[in-house]
Amino acid sequence: MKMDKVAGSGNDEFYTPEYAILPLLPYLKPFNVIWCPFDTRQSNFVKCLTDNGHKVIYTHISNGENFFMLNKECDAIVSNPPYSFKTEVIERLFQIGKPFAMLMGIVGVFESQRRFNAFRTNGVEVLYFNKRVSYYTSYEAKETDLEPPFSSAYICHGILPKQIEFAEITKDVKKKRSIKNVSQSMISLFDEVTA
Ligand SMILES: C[S@@+](CC[C@H](N)C(=O)[O-])C[C@H]1O[C@@H](n2cnc3c(N)ncnc32)[C@H](O)[C@@H]1O
Repeated sequence: MKMDKVAGSGNDEFYTPEYAILPLLPYLKPFNVIWCPFDTRQSNFVKCLTDNGHKVIYTHISNGENFFMLNKECDAIVSNPPYSFKTEVIERLFQIGKPFAMLMGIVGVFESQRRFNAFRTNGVEVLYFNKRVSYYTSYEAKETDLEPPFSSAYICHGILPKQIEFAEITKDVKKKRSIKNVSQSMISLFDEVTA
């Protein structure tokens, strides 16, 4: 595991807008307790799931809670994980064995032998969006002004009724930037996502 890339690397600090969480909510109805393992109380996952009646447990590396060392009592695990540990996160989730939904870059997600093995052995479901998700660069940001050069989807197990589901998202982005203007940090993020 690339532990040198744990929180603070920069590339993992992108935060999910509420509009990317709303399409998942109908599928989470059967689950009472949901663990958000990459989240603080500021996370939109924590806020949105709590507002929708779930009991939410949240943990984050900044509080000394390393996902890879934890196993919380819960009915499902939901979040947007650190991109630099995509493979390790997926393998750990299958090891824990709870239903999960992880929002992540879909480009190249099946192009890794380890992920291929994990999905072939355990099965996988995908919730695919009509638009790319624009992430916040801080919890204080009021707008998402980055247009990432990759598509995101929920990679799930034990959550969706079919292997692939499609959902429309409605963005609240007022200010869009073209791919030409994407910041260097987002280009690095693209490298992480497609790795
Ligand atoms: C892509 S961000 C998403 C944050 C939040 N889930 C959201 O969607 O707004 C992933 C977060 O996971 C945190 N993180 C990185 N490694 C972690 C670990 N081993 N255990 C828990 N959190 C970790 C990062 O610091 C980062 O804040």
